[in-house]
Amino acid sequence: MDFFIPASDFSSWYSHAQNLAKHHNISPLELELLVTHFTELSPLDLKLQNYQQKDYIKSKIPWNNLKDSWEERITERRPIQYIIGECHWRNFTLIVTPDVLIPRPETELIIDLALEKTEQYPHLRQGKWLDLGTGSGAIAIALAQVFPQGEIIAVDKSEKALNIARQNAHRLGLSDRIKFYQGSWFEPIITQKNSFSGILSNPPYIPTSFIASLQPEIANYEPRLALDGGEDGLQAIREIVESSPEFLQDNGILILEIMTGQGKMVKEIITQKGQYTDVEIRTDLAHLERFALARKTLLQ
Ligand SMILES: C[S@@+](CC[C@H](N)C(=O)[O-])C[C@H]1O[C@@H](n2cnc3c(N)ncnc32)[C@H](O)[C@@H]1O
Repeated sequence: MDFFIPASDFSSWYSHAQNLAKHHNISPLELELLVTHFTELSPLDLKLQNYQQKDYIKSKIPWNNLKDSWEERITERRPIQYIIGECHWRNFTLIVTPDVLIPRPETELIIDLALEKTEQYPHLRQGKWLDLGTGSGAIAIALAQVFPQGEIIAVDKSEKALNIARQNAHRLGLSDRIKFYQGSWFEPIITQKNSFSGILSNPPYIPTSFIASLQPEIANYEPRLALDGGEDGLQAIREIVESSPEFLQDNGILILEIMTGQGKMVKEIITQKGQYTDVEIRTDLAHLERFALARKTLLQ
């Protein structure tokens, strides 16, 4: 059903909403995203103020709901992605709800690293790839796209998150390429030892005591299970580093997203395990430590 907003009402609200964004330090692009998601207006229409030439603006939601949504963004600090129910990531759009972490642009690089690390061993691209803690399914879906011959396995402890990930895979036509399992890390795939070409994970890595001090958009809305990395933030990383060699095939790759400042510790954890080579810490586009990479050592 469509709703029609008087253009003059929209026009005065839109400039008020822009001011609110400025005042509350919220990007004007978020307002643009809200309006273009729910109404017929495009970013260009907003830029050129084309709505001033119209009598009515067609909307997917009632006028009051549109205004309330922006109010909620400003006063409740609800993330815009949860309000519109979508998030663009790499070259696709994902459904997101508060059951899943909003996939971050920084995480997109993990896929490029998987591509880079398999250049030398292209046969790995045809094998099995594991996304541990899949959340919305972002990493698993991108793996299915970049490795068209690969078999993708995705695990999450949260059944609610897996429901969203399955919907995303279905919407993008990749349901038959990704198998989803519920459980803690390797527990649901215990029979798949020595079989993975690569294991990728963006695990929870925030120290428990930091969570309350994060911006309200994160602390009050994103799932605790997706954020909380235990006392020092490294609990999930330790578990994944400990078990990955059992599940990787020879030369298989492990790529973990980490938090800035964790690089030295994570490198030490990986090196101490004694079953990895080519251990390195990589930065993201903002030059912040963001990924740990390693390769399973070949057995002599
Ligand atoms: C930081 S989020 C990453 C989500 C998604 N991969 C992304 O990059 O946007 C971490 C994910 O790990 C999942 N998780 C937390 N503990 C887990 C566990 N013990 N076993 C499996 N998944 C777990 C959470 O439910 C969450 O979806």
